[in-house]
Amino acid sequence: MKIRDRLSLQFAGISAIILFLVLAGIYIAVERTRASTFYNRLNDRALTVAELFLGEDNMTREKFTEVQRRYPIELPNEEVHIYNEKGDPVFINQNTIQWPGPMIERVRKEHRLRIRQRDKQSVGLLYEDNSGNFVVLISAYDKYGHNWERQLLWAMLFSFIISTVVMFFLGRVFARTALLPITRAVNEVKVIRSTSLDRRLKTQESRDEVNELIVTFNNLLEHLEQSFDAQRSFVSNASHELRTPLTSIIGNIEVTLAFDRTAADYKLTLQQVLVATGKLNELINNLFELAQAAIDVSDFEEVRLDELIWQVKDEWMNKVPGCHIELDFKLDPDFRKYTIKGKSDLLFIAFGNLVHNAIKFSGNKPIFCTIESKSHETEIRIRDQGIGIHSEEAHEVFLPFRRGSNAKNFEGSGIGLSLTEKILRLQGGHIRINDTLQSGTEFIISFPSLL
Ligand SMILES: Nc1ncnc2c1ncn2[C@@H]1O[C@H](COP(=O)(O)OP(=O)(O)OP(=O)(O)O)[C@@H](O)[C@H]1O
Ligand SMILES: [Mg+2]
Repeated sequence: MKIRDRLSLQFAGISAIILFLVLAGIYIAVERTRASTFYNRLNDRALTVAELFLGEDNMTREKFTEVQRRYPIELPNEEVHIYNEKGDPVFINQNTIQWPGPMIERVRKEHRLRIRQRDKQSVGLLYEDNSGNFVVLISAYDKYGHNWERQLLWAMLFSFIISTVVMFFLGRVFARTALLPITRAVNEVKVIRSTSLDRRLKTQESRDEVNELIVTFNNLLEHLEQSFDAQRSFVSNASHELRTPLTSIIGNIEVTLAFDRTAADYKLTLQQVLVATGKLNELINNLFELAQAAIDVSDFEEVRLDELIWQVKDEWMNKVPGCHIELDFKLDPDFRKYTIKGKSDLLFIAFGNLVHNAIKFSGNKPIFCTIESKSHETEIRIRDQGIGIHSEEAHEVFLPFRRGSNAKNFEGSGIGLSLTEKILRLQGGHIRINDTLQSGTEFIISFPSLL
């Protein structure tokens, strides 16, 4: 069910309940007033009858009935009973059944009585006369009052139904007006596709919740547009990087095959092809790792950062003969302070990339690596004495395929750092470049302490 229909139904429902309670309250008050007014009339009538019948001692029964019938305020279906002190009926009109003895006794004791049987109301009173105390009981049907009440009930029912229907339609109008900005936003969102992510929803003058939603949605579109752009440039950069060694391989083979060559020429060409395919292989591996670096938290294990740094150092000392990596540990005695939850093989790749860059961009000058326990984190610094990174490029080098302007003469495709940043971020770490250095480069990596 749409919110608009639900709102109008709720609106009509709530109004109907309130209206029903108000009308029921009015009806009950009216009925009470009617009943009490009629009791008073019965009381007056009982007194009149008693005075007429008992005041005129010598009036015959027929004569009194005649007087009573002619009396202008006789009530509808009126029944009058008068009993003497012994409880014997001295007057009963309309041949009605006698009142039960206990009831007559009650009137005698309490001096007055008001009861109601179905639609009929009755009043009893003790009339003190010079010839004794008489019990006068009178009952009648409030025909006019009940008729009037019935009409009131129909009017109330009619107005209740009409009001509820009107409330429902008014509720629809209100709901439509209230939801109009949302409907407009939905219509605008419907036309947005991946090719039109530059579109934005129109914000409103009023600073209400819907406007907040629209602003949030626009922010989301902004992020989406940026990440789509990043994705697009990633794909075009990747295809460009892959095409370069492939073009060189194809060119080399075509040139060699164009004429008959000596064995030495073929050997040279094959060596060139091998170098190009080696680059291609490395690039594909890097791209594959970048795509694979999505992490399942359930695979996480405990990794001691000091041991990891030792392993990275050993690996690169073996790979690059003559490479010099100096380690400095300023660690807390409690090794749990620098133990993190993560994936050691991915962390190994991340730190390996940093060490590889330090070696590559410094021409194999000594590298300094410190690992230090701080109050809430463990900090690892990898510093080299190489070409450095221009401060305005410091943020860009973490993006895929971005390379520093001074790195043109060095091998590489610009994937290593983006892979490192992604791996560290996914495992709770953070990497930045120390911008206070005069020469060389220092990467600062921090991991929050688990303790
Ligand atoms: N230690 C460093 N010294 C100087 N510049 C660096 C250093 N590390 C990274 N950079 C700069 O950051 C850029 C991006 O580094 P990244 O590791 O992503 O790419 P790459 O090393 O050029 O290529 P790849 O790692 O894909 O082989 C580098 O091209 C370089 O300009
Ligand atoms: Mg690199």
